[in-house]
Amino acid sequence: MALNAQKLDVMVPGVEPSGYTIRIGRGMLGGLWDDIRSQWPKLNPFIVTDAELVKAGHLETLVGSETIPTYIIEPAGEISKHIQTVVQIVEMMETNVLGRDSIVIALGGGTVGDIAGFAAAIFKRGVPVVQIPTTTVAQADSSVGGKTGVDSSVSKNAFGAFWQPAAVYIDVETLGTLDDRQYRAGLVESVKHAAIMDAEYFDFFETNIDAILNKDMRVLEQIAMTNCRIKAEVVQQDPTEKNMRRILNYGHTIGHAVESASEFTLLHGESVAIGMIAAGKLEKALGLAADGRLERIEGLLVKLGMSTVIPAEIKKEQLIALLGKDKKAIGQWPRFILLESLGNTLCKNEQWAHEVSRDIVEQCLDDLY
Ligand code: GLY
Repeated sequence: MALNAQKLDVMVPGVEPSGYTIRIGRGMLGGLWDDIRSQWPKLNPFIVTDAELVKAGHLETLVGSETIPTYIIEPAGEISKHIQTVVQIVEMMETNVLGRDSIVIALGGGTVGDIAGFAAAIFKRGVPVVQIPTTTVAQADSSVGGKTGVDSSVSKNAFGAFWQPAAVYIDVETLGTLDDRQYRAGLVESVKHAAIMDAEYFDFFETNIDAILNKDMRVLEQIAMTNCRIKAEVVQQDPTEKNMRRILNYGHTIGHAVESASEFTLLHGESVAIGMIAAGKLEKALGLAADGRLERIEGLLVKLGMSTVIPAEIKKEQLIALLGKDKKAIGQWPRFILLESLGNTLCKNEQWAHEVSRDIVEQCLDDLY
């Protein structure tokens, strides 16, 4: 039976296969398995999920009574996002006598997608991965675009690969079981998409904020489609982040430093919210923010329940030191993504990431305590 889903095709130049389809719908998780089987009838599936997804009943909804070899990440979350988990997945695939004719199915949030995608990228030199994201952050961002990887003991995503999915299936109803804190924090990536690329989407988000917070599934389906359209537009132009894809890191430079300094007690989205306010302050200091947009962005983030100040226990000096180690730093100082206006990211001399002096960054950080 055909899936009741909207479709969006993503074309990715320079990689094989050269594109994939994102399907977005409500309550389609139970019908996906037949679709996956019929699309890849000759491939043997291997599922990667986590203990919370199993508890929420999503694994059972997906496969029904079929027995599929499955690796369950436990504990769920960033704490398991390391190379040992990948080693265990690869070895479990081998002990299940899976070969290059296998397909990895990632059912879960950003951590599951990153780990499973990376395992798929390296298993027998690469097998396809299907992403079935179940969190706001994964549905808006991490399941699309092919970034996969795990953390080392030194830094985030130190082991990684660009490995585009074979398909993405987004059932917004899976968000129904997500806890409130994660649900809200993941929506920050949607606000980011609106801020960098689409002022109309920003208006839509503001107007529909109550429906979004109440998990109105029709509205969530609309925002899932808009997020994927925006993300696809960027990824298609710059799949391996040579330049334009950096705009997806809006708010992430200071955000990552805050996340890391908090020792991951702050969620990614909570840290990026602070990073977006910081970026807005940089824009003000650089004379790029005459239209009151920082106040609008801040207002929306506050409605999502985000804090807009840096926790007092995180010291400015710590953040400055972390910024020097940013993976995109040049001469131990990062480049920043800045808005030109709401819905437009600044591009100067064909570059999307910009130098901002240490003094200005320090002043903006001071302002965030
Ligand atoms: N999450 C940012 C990117 O996919 O490039």
